[in-house]
Amino acid sequence: MDFLFPFHPRFVHFPIALSLVGVAFVAVSFVRGGAGERWFWAGRLLIFLGWIGALIAGVTGMIDQSRAPDLPVVRDTINSHISVGIALIIVFGLALYWPLKDKQLLAERTHQWGYLALLLLGVGLILLESWLGGQLVYKLGVGVQ
Ligand code: HEM
Repeated sequence: MDFLFPFHPRFVHFPIALSLVGVAFVAVSFVRGGAGERWFWAGRLLIFLGWIGALIAGVTGMIDQSRAPDLPVVRDTINSHISVGIALIIVFGLALYWPLKDKQLLAERTHQWGYLALLLLGVGLILLESWLGGQLVYKLGVGVQ
């Protein structure tokens, strides 16, 4: 079964790509104002699929984690990677919940700025998560050596 490992890198592209494109769609919907409703719903769907993808990436990451070398620097980097992963699942979870509660989101500019700020926080966490994953693989050789 060794050919299945590392397992996690096969799943990480989906949450990264889906969430980033989803955020871009939502931003376009706000720029387009009243004409952007379809962009908004498409963006939310992509963010939802990205969120499911992040949960799956988390599960596969934990499977690979059990095979990582037991060194302090690897352990610390994996712990940071897990913390950022949990934070991004919470942030995008809030971003999915917000429009269910806020019926003025598509009409009110101030609400849209707040929502965009939350999404940009999510984008920052995705970038940080990907960088930490890259550190694990390309600097520390996890899943490679
Ligand atoms: C929260 C639980 C997670 C754990 C325990 C975890 C663990 C790991 C481990 C051990 C690696 C090293 C490669 C390997 O052995 O598979 C890695 C790499 C990586 N992880 Fe995660 N991960 C988690 C969540 C995530 C999430 C949610 C994302 C993306 C949204 C992500 C993105 C990445 C990326 C981009 C790499 C580098 C892959 C490569 O360049 O080949 N991880 N992760």
